[in-house]
Amino acid sequence: MSAPKKLFIKTYGCQMNVYDSERMAEALGGEGYVETKSPDDADMILLNTCHIREKAAEKVYSELGRFKGLKAEKPDLKIGVAGCVAQAEGQEIMRRQPLVDLVVGPQSYHRLPEMEAKAREGEKVLDTDFPEEDKFEKLKNRPKAKRGPTAFLTVQEGCDKFCAFCVVPYTRGAEVSRPADRILREAQDLVERGVREITLLGQNVNAYHGAGANGDMTLAQLIWELDKVDGLERIRFTTSHPNDMQDDLIEAHGTCAKLMPYLHLPVQAGSDKILKRMNRAHTTESYLRLIERIRAARPDILISGDFIVGFPEETEADFQATLDLVEEVKYGTAYSFKYSTRPGTPAAERPQVDPKEADDRLQRLQALLTKQQREVQDSMVGRDVTVLFEKVGRFPGQMVGKSDYLHAVHVADCDRAIGDLARVRILSSGANSLAGALID
Ligand code: 5AD
Ligand code: SF4
Repeated sequence: MSAPKKLFIKTYGCQMNVYDSERMAEALGGEGYVETKSPDDADMILLNTCHIREKAAEKVYSELGRFKGLKAEKPDLKIGVAGCVAQAEGQEIMRRQPLVDLVVGPQSYHRLPEMEAKAREGEKVLDTDFPEEDKFEKLKNRPKAKRGPTAFLTVQEGCDKFCAFCVVPYTRGAEVSRPADRILREAQDLVERGVREITLLGQNVNAYHGAGANGDMTLAQLIWELDKVDGLERIRFTTSHPNDMQDDLIEAHGTCAKLMPYLHLPVQAGSDKILKRMNRAHTTESYLRLIERIRAARPDILISGDFIVGFPEETEADFQATLDLVEEVKYGTAYSFKYSTRPGTPAAERPQVDPKEADDRLQRLQALLTKQQREVQDSMVGRDVTVLFEKVGRFPGQMVGKSDYLHAVHVADCDRAIGDLARVRILSSGANSLAGALID
């Protein structure tokens, strides 16, 4: 038998790309590829790219340029570009960078085996269609390999919201939900392979409306089905849009024990003028009332968010409104970004904020968010939480896991195994993690 071919995948961006990279590795695993951690001994290099940040495409071109020497040494090396930059740039990638053999958009990963075969024949292959078929169904998990205790599971892709700054509706396409039975089968399979916690993924996950036995299901209904899976202990989901936060989902946060008390609910800005220009279709007030209702259902829930500062025409007063909103919500964690132009999106045409001013606002917002994050983390000291152990710590006998609230927790003198859940009393709060002791 010939030696296995080696596959190097570099993943950029969001959790959905992490999930997609795993599926690509599995698909090519069926063609005799094993993964390698180094591009130097690879027979195939795949860059799974992200388009959400500034100059994303330029970064991909410069990364590709670095493989020039490698390809000169190994003419059989195949280089592919996947992900959202592949979708956005398409043919342009091959025109600009002749090293590239294969360009594959996020909706076409199940076609990778055929594409790889063609590339081996010396063809240049491109597939950035949005086909009707379910790419995940085609990407069957081949080997029943053991897995770590946590996993992502994509339940919907794409977005119909068209926020004025965002490329997702263009790169990932229209909102599509996977049928519930396929998701449940995949969840069952993950649990059989050792997974205890599943994070349901979607660009607009709470807009989920996949087909179920009795018509379309809501995300909450899907969560209740997953709740019945024996051996699955924790359920999370991300990322949600405020306008799709339906009553049954809010209620589930109070009644479904497996659904973790953590919600990522981006608001982006705190000024109604800016929210309108962002085409967010919600107001500051409606967002705050929503947070109130969620906290009424689950008082200890940890709220996380995304923010953009320096959106076109944002004034100091608009920015101040964002700070006020942050003060009112008290975020447990948050991601904040300086607005950056995406060609082709409506906001790209609007008058831009002075970059120095935007930098200054970002710093001020981040200072406030960091302070809040720290306060929420410190408030855990003295409380009892459940920890799912994910790995051994740096010190003998130490284990590291995540609390229900997604805080990293270090536990000394811990006789538990990876994948175990245990009650832990929090004793102290450090820079980015908590420390605690087993209660029993
Ligand atoms: N500029 C800055 N941040 C952006 N995001 C999306 N598009 C842009 C952009 N053009 C941020 C949003 C989103 C997160 C995933 O990335 O806050 O919620
Ligand atoms: Fe982008 Fe999220 Fe807005 Fe959809 S809801 S357009 S993914 S920011």
